Amino acid sequence: MSPYDLPNALFIDGKWQPSISGETFDTFNPATEEVLAKVPRANAQDVHLAVQAAHRAFYGEWRQVTPAERGKLLYRLAQTIQTNREELAKLETLDNGKPLREALGDIDGVVQTIEYNAGAADKLQGDTIPLGYEVVDFTWLEPLGVTAHIVPWNFPLGIAVRSVAPALAAGCTVVLKPAEETPLSALRLASLAQEVGFPDGVLNVVTGFGEEAGAPLVRHPWVRGVTFTGSAETGRKIIAQSAESLKSLVLELGGKNALIVFEDADLDRAVEDAIEAVFGNCGQVCSAASRLLLQRQIYQEFQRRFSERVLQLSVAPGLENGDLGPLVSREQLERAFSYIRSGLEEGASLTLGGKRPENLSRGYFLQPTIFEKVHPKMRIAQEEIFAPVVVVLSFEHDDEALQIANDVPYGLTAGIYTRDIRRALTSAQWLESGSVWINGWYLGGVQAPTGGVKASGFGRERGLPGIHNYLQIKNVAIKL
Ligand code: NAI
Ligand code: MG
Repeated sequence: MSPYDLPNALFIDGKWQPSISGETFDTFNPATEEVLAKVPRANAQDVHLAVQAAHRAFYGEWRQVTPAERGKLLYRLAQTIQTNREELAKLETLDNGKPLREALGDIDGVVQTIEYNAGAADKLQGDTIPLGYEVVDFTWLEPLGVTAHIVPWNFPLGIAVRSVAPALAAGCTVVLKPAEETPLSALRLASLAQEVGFPDGVLNVVTGFGEEAGAPLVRHPWVRGVTFTGSAETGRKIIAQSAESLKSLVLELGGKNALIVFEDADLDRAVEDAIEAVFGNCGQVCSAASRLLLQRQIYQEFQRRFSERVLQLSVAPGLENGDLGPLVSREQLERAFSYIRSGLEEGASLTLGGKRPENLSRGYFLQPTIFEKVHPKMRIAQEEIFAPVVVVLSFEHDDEALQIANDVPYGLTAGIYTRDIRRALTSAQWLESGSVWINGWYLGGVQAPTGGVKASGFGRERGLPGIHNYLQIKNVAIKL
């Protein structure tokens, strides 16, 4: 199947169908600004059909499937994704803009995620609780029910599968709503799940906008759990929309993550890692390093080497595999420019970038951008920009580094570069962040939990905690 002849339909109850209203919307190729495909624009009525199908499957056929069989279905899904790796990566590059090399890496991560959850499906055991000889007490881990998965556009398939795979492993049924910017790979996922034999209604995909399709999905009384990755602003709305029917929520809401380089760090490693940490996926990563905190003694040297490397980075359409592709949309490009203007207005100095690359007249491209002379309270040092824009700050003492690192609303990831184990672990203790990485960035894999504190959200994804999001404990007690 070529990227272009995906079914132009919603996937509900194992069938491809148009939206009830018949409306569609366009998804764009961000490298060319051209329309890539038209997809159905779902609203509350379509969402209801999808939830109904998931509800029916949960209380029907899916219950008859043993945990081991669920695992096998997931394994088969992982295998077919592996077989279709190139096609899926290309689809992701066309829809999101990212370099093909990065999209291929994403698909490899998708395969690993599904395999991990496939293997866990029949190992989700309860406990026996010792209450003495008169009572037998044990727990069952039961699936939550119908779960909703609302996904952003930065890792369209990666973030979808990060929550859909554990939900299916746990025995839940799923309604997936991809982002309106990047709906295509979720539709392809549905067709592959159908091919490998998932029963009808177990995985449903509704494409549409946040307010029109996302909100009714979150509100729907039959949906028992919602997993959302995206902006803090939308996260707050999801809490409000889910309040009426009291749902279980997992929210991952972005970050303003500090990469801290102490004077005793291995600078070669820190500079090389910072390039990927800041500019990977064009800076559109919730756990990207968007603040570099450099100790005064190494500030000049780090900056010299870092800027030299940044000048070598190429910006190109994703299919040409440069270092950076375009941003996902015109809206995100304009948002980035508005932060760049704000930085200049507040008196920061633009060391590199800040403009569209001169050789690219079309597409949502932005040069890799570095701000210095940044005060930690400036908007560019406090808010998530979500673009290849980094702010560089300096500090004198360890305490000051930690204070600056923690003094933002978010708390998703943080990184420390030092050769001193005591300094590394003491800093790790004080950092207010869901993950702390030492002498590396993007450490950990599908086995390691990830998630935020403070405005970065709550709940953890990946690893076994990622599956427990979709299980609830039933305690059974028997008097002898
Ligand atoms: P968003 O949070 O509005 O969108 C993410 C998803 O939520 C999309 O699928 C969207 O349709 C859905 N959505 C929007 N409003 C909804 C509602 N009321 N109810 C249910 N679902 C809803 O993010 P957006 O507008 O795409 O990007 C804005 C900013 O959010 C970015 O600049 C970035 O700072 C942040 N962001 C963070 C991400 C992360 O990985 N944590 C991913 C994407 C964006
Ligand atoms: Mg939005």
